[in-house]
Amino acid sequence: MGKRFDFLIIGSGLAGMSFALKVADKGSVALICKTTLDEANTYYAQGGIASVMNGLTDNFEKHIEDTLICGDGHCKADVVEKIVRKGPEMIDQLVTWGVDFDKNNVGEYDLHKEGGHSENRILHHKDNTGAEIQLSLVEQLKKHPNIHIFEHHFAIEIITQHHLGQIITHNTTNIECFGAYVMNEKTRSITTFLAKVTLMATGGIGNVYLTTSNPTIATGDGIAMAHRARGVIKDMEFVQFHPTVLYNPNERPSFLITEAMRGYGAVLRNGKKQEFMYKYDKRGSLAPRDIVARAIDNEMKISGDDFVYLDVTHMNAEETKKEYPTIYKKCLSLGIDITKDLIPVVPATHFLCGGILVDDNACSSIRRLYAAGECACSGLHGANRLASNSLLEAIYYADVAAKHAVKAIEQYDFQLNIPDWNDEGTSLPEEMVLITQSIREVGQLMSAYVGIVRSNLRLKRAMNRLKILYSETEILFDRSVVSREICELRNIISVAYLVIKQASLRKESRGLHFNVDYPGKNPQEAEF
Ligand code: SIN
Repeated sequence: MGKRFDFLIIGSGLAGMSFALKVADKGSVALICKTTLDEANTYYAQGGIASVMNGLTDNFEKHIEDTLICGDGHCKADVVEKIVRKGPEMIDQLVTWGVDFDKNNVGEYDLHKEGGHSENRILHHKDNTGAEIQLSLVEQLKKHPNIHIFEHHFAIEIITQHHLGQIITHNTTNIECFGAYVMNEKTRSITTFLAKVTLMATGGIGNVYLTTSNPTIATGDGIAMAHRARGVIKDMEFVQFHPTVLYNPNERPSFLITEAMRGYGAVLRNGKKQEFMYKYDKRGSLAPRDIVARAIDNEMKISGDDFVYLDVTHMNAEETKKEYPTIYKKCLSLGIDITKDLIPVVPATHFLCGGILVDDNACSSIRRLYAAGECACSGLHGANRLASNSLLEAIYYADVAAKHAVKAIEQYDFQLNIPDWNDEGTSLPEEMVLITQSIREVGQLMSAYVGIVRSNLRLKRAMNRLKILYSETEILFDRSVVSREICELRNIISVAYLVIKQASLRKESRGLHFNVDYPGKNPQEAEF
């Protein structure tokens, strides 16, 4: 038996939750989350959210320019301008929902600085801003009677004309989304969720790589589903590696050491304890992330070390403990007192600039399907995201999507003749070990061949290896009863395919995509 909702939201980070809160007075809302409401990429964002809040030193033009410079000639300038100018309104909205940003002793926002920013403009809540945002919005969600929350539910596929027997190709122009097939993880039953409109807000792809700052749920599900439904996916080659996660090899996800710490004064040092960033960029440890991550990668290759250091020992110890309590406690639990000891750090996959292509209203190329947050590609980030612009993008696109969707639902009805999910197949005892091993293999090949520095040979090798994993997985999928694990493996493989393919097509190096065979920029490839 299916369910019907005016609005279906897949994903419970900032984009999904704020969209829910904005449309809930206009109709029924289903919010699907893979695990629990608080487990989203948003929760793990330490640094904060960028917005121009101090008119004395900062202005919109500076934030726009920083974003464009960081995006390395590939941003959509009109999108950057719109979002930056809406920043203060979006911050007010979060405050209305109960988010508590830190203030200084005269009652003004305490603004941090991060790489690539020319001014202090990062609003934060200590060093756990994401958790503050996530938990504040969860409280609001739970109060609204129209919002129905489905925890431990996993979206398997979005429903289109394909499920009515129509042949859909990448050239089909009128593809429509009628909802999604969703699995209840506790009962293993699959329900058809019909919706007038659907928002994809499934977050990032970090687990396509071996090491990531993202939670284990970040497996690119929304992008993979939209790709299989023949939606347009763009800029997948621009995978952002955060320069500094804590070096602690067996920990998943990797623990982030916020970039705000470098804004505060921390510096990067190599194995010989030498500060090295000025060799690479005049902005030193505060250069944009692509430059810092490549510099660290290079230093580790030169020395053969497994990590470099972040040094905050020269700063006031009490201030460090007060500003970065989460990092202080975490490191101390591993025997590192950050006020006295250097912190071992490495780069790790952190954010995807590309994703489901959306227009100014967050509409994807599939009718009735919106996308917002990390799974969407709006043009804000270009070839490299400016630190702390992602939460701003998520709340902005949820806002425009909500405004568009509440009008759009008037013209749509539920598509009633959708067949139930065909759940024939058998559960094979050896299945789990095959799935786990294949996920590991994808991570290994992506980290080895499609990482911070790429080459034509590495990309080709990655694609050849991935094709084998793809064929094996499709055979397994066809004969097995569907499970979250096999679906995540398929999604990881689809996303890896898109990253490798789009990286192979870019015949230049720009922003986060660096190919040794094309080390320079090609002006003809700049356009978004
Ligand atoms: C950080 O705190 O360094 C991460 C924030 C971001 O990715 O924008």
